[in-house]
Amino acid sequence: MSVVKINVLNVPAEQREVLEQRFAARAGSVENSDGFEWFELLRPVEGTDTYLVYTRWRSEEDFKAWMEGPMKAAHQGGGDGAPKQKPAASGSALWSFEVVQQAAPKAKGA
Ligand code: HEM
Repeated sequence: MSVVKINVLNVPAEQREVLEQRFAARAGSVENSDGFEWFELLRPVEGTDTYLVYTRWRSEEDFKAWMEGPMKAAHQGGGDGAPKQKPAASGSALWSFEVVQQAAPKAKGA
């Protein structure tokens, strides 16, 4: 089963637009990475300043391979993977999950 890696970003209200614009201009290279399955940038609706960068991978190894290579370039070459510009986020944490169950809508019609 797949693994889910969520980068949790604390983004002060006045930095939201900066963050979203950076993602709008993101490298777009993750789509070409081996084992990449899904990406979503999740904007908080209420009660929190936390954005979630949701990614899903075929395996832990695929995620690690992305982290060690393409991820750094996609984050503008920062040695530790962090963007070189002043970050819009005031903090971040990486959450890891294994997918234990999943469902998709049943095909309709026919
Ligand atoms: C040091 C903490 C991190 C910060 C502050 C951060 C922030 C950002 C920002 C602002 C962007 C937009 C592009 C840019 O400006 O570089 C971006 C891209 C991205 N980030 Fe992070 N990031 C961090 C680490 C991570 C980690 C650990 C993951 C793994 C889940 C991740 C997943 C992604 C993905 C998938 C993209 C899009 C890359 C592409 O389009 O190829 N980030 N990140």
